[in-house]
Amino acid sequence: MKGLCEFPTEIITEGSTEIVVPKLRAFVAKPSDYAPSKAPVFYNPVMELNRDLAVLSLQAFQRLVKRDLRVCEPLAGCGIRGIRIAREVNNVKEVVINDINEDAMRLAKINVERNRLANYVFVESKDANILLSVFGAPRKRFDYVDIDPFGSPMPYVDSALRATRRNGLIALTATDLAPLCGVHPKACVRKYGGKPLRTEYSHELAIRLLAGALTRSAAKYDLGTRMLFSHSSEHYVRLYSSIDYGAKKADASLKELGYIHHCFTCFHREASNYMTHEKPCPECGSKMSVAGPLWIGKILDEDFVTSMERECRSRALRQNRRIRRLLSLAKEEGSAAITYYGIDRICDRFGLPVPPPKEVIAELKKLGYPVSPTHFGSHGIKTAASAKVVKETIVTLARNR
Ligand SMILES: C[S@@+](CC[C@H](N)C(=O)[O-])C[C@H]1O[C@@H](n2cnc3c(N)ncnc32)[C@H](O)[C@@H]1O
Ligand SMILES: [Zn+2]
Repeated sequence: MKGLCEFPTEIITEGSTEIVVPKLRAFVAKPSDYAPSKAPVFYNPVMELNRDLAVLSLQAFQRLVKRDLRVCEPLAGCGIRGIRIAREVNNVKEVVINDINEDAMRLAKINVERNRLANYVFVESKDANILLSVFGAPRKRFDYVDIDPFGSPMPYVDSALRATRRNGLIALTATDLAPLCGVHPKACVRKYGGKPLRTEYSHELAIRLLAGALTRSAAKYDLGTRMLFSHSSEHYVRLYSSIDYGAKKADASLKELGYIHHCFTCFHREASNYMTHEKPCPECGSKMSVAGPLWIGKILDEDFVTSMERECRSRALRQNRRIRRLLSLAKEEGSAAITYYGIDRICDRFGLPVPPPKEVIAELKKLGYPVSPTHFGSHGIKTAASAKVVKETIVTLARNR
């Protein structure tokens, strides 16, 4: 399809919305080319799940607050997310989509018009922080701001907070997992103000570091945060937090910040509001490593996820099964212990075959421990059992195979 834009495009359907997107195949010169960033306008089909969950989260939020919503997507690419929100979420009365790339916004305008949304989807082409600052005053603020950038969302978090009304919702995508998961710890400290660790549960730490950074930024404006939903999928982590006004709310959120002490010798870990330097491991006496400061409170709200599940049931989403599985796992781990054990990592350490996670879960339950699988990985388990018990259980099961 040519003529509408200066570059090859095609029409795709995502959710219940038809969108004109760059024809990615046309921009791949060699197999190693990453098509979304070669196209003149950004569009990544892999992020369909991310956008589906944005639609479900926002609808769940709308049911919760029971008011009409004004929405802003300041880093919008071809506009697919904002346009899907306008079409697929009930009670959305205005959406502002914006991208610094003018080609992107030309394509977004085409999409707005094709979907007959010109009365309430408005297209801008500014720097995201400038756009959000324009909407930073009381009564101009949005109910929902969705920050979906390249890499870290932190350069936009302050202006997003100022542009979100009290009792509003902020969503953040972070694709810079190398810093957040501890491959580049200095970059993580610079961007998120917390130290990561390369543990088997580094993706959970990534969400907690992001939530911690958001909470500290929000506190400056007397805003409290409450994590309604979060997930780790593919190459990114994603977080949805409600933003509540008041110094007390901000203080209460700051109390959810702390540290995770981890023993690389014996897998022991513990969360605490305080950091203890050189703390010896209570299980084996080795020196423990520390991650944080980060969010040690809940990273999702089970009722909110139940509402997302309800929304999912009434929609024909291509990835319906995957989403239902993700939501059900996430809900189960909502109140589970902080961090998770990687069955495969423990088996690696002892040179043993990996027993099926189901068997490990059943065995720990038999011993009387609360235990659940986790959406973070198929070999992950969350449990209140000590590292010693977890290891013994896994090793016994592996040796008996
Ligand atoms: C990951 S893409 C957005 C994808 C989109 N949210 C979606 O769901 O398909 C990031 C976008 O941010 C835009 N961008 C980068 N820096 C920006 C800035 N300072 N202000 C506004 N847009 C910016 C890029 O042009 C790109 O389209
Ligand atoms: Zn130890």
